[in-house]
Amino acid sequence: MNAAIIGYGKMGREIERLLVERGHGVGLIVDVDNRGDLDAAHLRGIDVALEFTTPATAYDNIRACIDAGTPVVSGTTGWTDRLDELKTRCLNCTECELCKARTQVVFGVGNPAADILLIGEGPGENEDLQGQPFVGRSGKLLDQFLESIDLSREKNVYIANMVKCRPPKNRDPKPEEQEACLHWLREQFKIIRPRLVICVGRIAAQRLIDKDFRVTRQHGEFIDKNGTLFMGTYHPAAILRNPNNKEAAFGDWLKVRDKIEELHLNV
Ligand code: URA
Repeated sequence: MNAAIIGYGKMGREIERLLVERGHGVGLIVDVDNRGDLDAAHLRGIDVALEFTTPATAYDNIRACIDAGTPVVSGTTGWTDRLDELKTRCLNCTECELCKARTQVVFGVGNPAADILLIGEGPGENEDLQGQPFVGRSGKLLDQFLESIDLSREKNVYIANMVKCRPPKNRDPKPEEQEACLHWLREQFKIIRPRLVICVGRIAAQRLIDKDFRVTRQHGEFIDKNGTLFMGTYHPAAILRNPNNKEAAFGDWLKVRDKIEELHLNV
């Protein structure tokens, strides 16, 4: 079979790998941004077109396939739709005590198709007011680290927290609050399917990497968990309290940059 892949995002690349692995040909790859170029002539010699774009863009692509007599399989991934649906449910959550004092649920922000997921601890005062993770002073520092290695929440990472509601007076989230909230993060993980997870701070690293995780000793180490790499680093709030750790934290982000290159992650 000789296939065309239309919409070359994360799913498109996975399908390409699968096709090649099974001995099929990939005769044409069309990025969604260039879909206007697609016409019947491009589809000559293509047996099947696999379409991974949003419904709004699918029509033109499907029409070109019909014109060319090429069967089309429309496999819209719907990352955004699925995450939006999850968010709508999460915003109404009352599964633990933290819902009582919150102003807003802080679900998460970023590119749902990102290969990199950052997980913090929980919203602080600014996050609770604005409904976005990491928007206070520590968020600014996190954004600086990200920018230094060409990452950003607008482009190529997704950012979430262990708990979605602010713990009073910014105390650590209690184990039972983390447990109650964990299923939201699991569902986010299943939709985003990151290849690299950065645990920002002790709370996330101890719950997701190792219950005895010590940031001072284990920061910057990559651990493979069922095919996904996890790494724990300093929480920016801890760096603001003790700026001596800034250099070590920066070193962790440089390691992330190297890992992105080594694994050819999509950024
Ligand atoms: N600290 C966190 O861990 N998460 C936020 O969203 C803000 C501060």
